[in-house]
Amino acid sequence: MYNRPFEQIDKSEFLAKYWQKAPCFFKNAFEVPPSFLSADELAGLSLQEEIESRLVIQSGNNKPAAQNADAWSVEHGPFDNSRFANLPESHWTLLVQSVDTWVADTRKLLTDFNFIPRWRFDDVMVSYATDQGGVGPHADNYDVFLIQGSGERHWRVGAKGDTSEAKTVIQGMCHLDQFTSIIDIVMQPGDMLYIPPDTAHWGISIGESIGYSVGYRSIQTNQLLALITEKLAEKIDHQQFFTDAYRDTPNTSNYFEDQLVDWAQNELKQLANQPDVLADLLSKQMSLSKLGVYQNDNNFDINELNKDSTIQLDDEIGVNWHYLNDKIRLNIEGESFDFDLQYEKVVKKMASFSPISLTLFNFSPKMVDFPPVLTSLINRGYIKRVD
Ligand SMILES: [Fe+2]
Repeated sequence: MYNRPFEQIDKSEFLAKYWQKAPCFFKNAFEVPPSFLSADELAGLSLQEEIESRLVIQSGNNKPAAQNADAWSVEHGPFDNSRFANLPESHWTLLVQSVDTWVADTRKLLTDFNFIPRWRFDDVMVSYATDQGGVGPHADNYDVFLIQGSGERHWRVGAKGDTSEAKTVIQGMCHLDQFTSIIDIVMQPGDMLYIPPDTAHWGISIGESIGYSVGYRSIQTNQLLALITEKLAEKIDHQQFFTDAYRDTPNTSNYFEDQLVDWAQNELKQLANQPDVLADLLSKQMSLSKLGVYQNDNNFDINELNKDSTIQLDDEIGVNWHYLNDKIRLNIEGESFDFDLQYEKVVKKMASFSPISLTLFNFSPKMVDFPPVLTSLINRGYIKRVD
């Protein structure tokens, strides 16, 4: 029986005590540590233009930027093979983002975190570090599960919110000048650390090591407003001009009148009072996967399916679902697909990337009686056969 991270702690207990609240260390979370790619394979990814990668190099000893700013440098990929031939033996790390998109096997990691909805997931980042390599002391805006693949790293982690000390920005990296550790451990292969947002952390490689980071995302007010501006403005059906028919006395001093603020408040309230519109807007946006570069390679002939067939939504896809009036709306990569309520079970299975036996559907003598919307999902290549 293999160890899995949430065999040590109940998922509900983790959510209640730690998720978004406090860091948490899982010793031996994975009995079989992840080893989806070698250092050479990771370097190979960083040579490609469409893949986001960074090299963080220190020329001095391992001190935060505040004490040794000149020692840190950041380079952005794509890199040339010759770059790797000219790196020092220690004190650097290579970070590659969205490896889940480029190396399908790494998405197996996500099954351990499927109790956090997919629309919160951002990407799997993989880092290779030489001895003493790391990105320095910092805090992120998002949740992350750090999983040690190979080698060891010394991690220090502060309390959530304890990040108000001075910061030094160096080449786009924001280093905390200092923080107080509440976790101070050497992570070994298979160990895992959960780091909530706004939590100081600092990892330093001990010898060569590879780490996997399952990262999450959220949405901010400014993004919400941008969405409303960009995608919804034309759809608001109560486009109104401000009017000042209330004016009954001259305003010769150019006094700014409260009525304009009242008008603005009312307009925003009317928008906020349309939850279906906001649900549509936000659910579509949050169904977009980070890169949205889904490669359609699931073409199969729908007529080849029979009662013994099993289908499944491709786990590369960004997805979520919600109720909308008397329908169930499935959002995939920014597009909506509406199902009748009788397909609720099918949609839930589909959106959780579970296999769906076609015995759930009626069969006519020759072919399966799919709802047309499912047929269009299949024709779009979002569905794969798993039988
Ligand atoms: Fe981080």
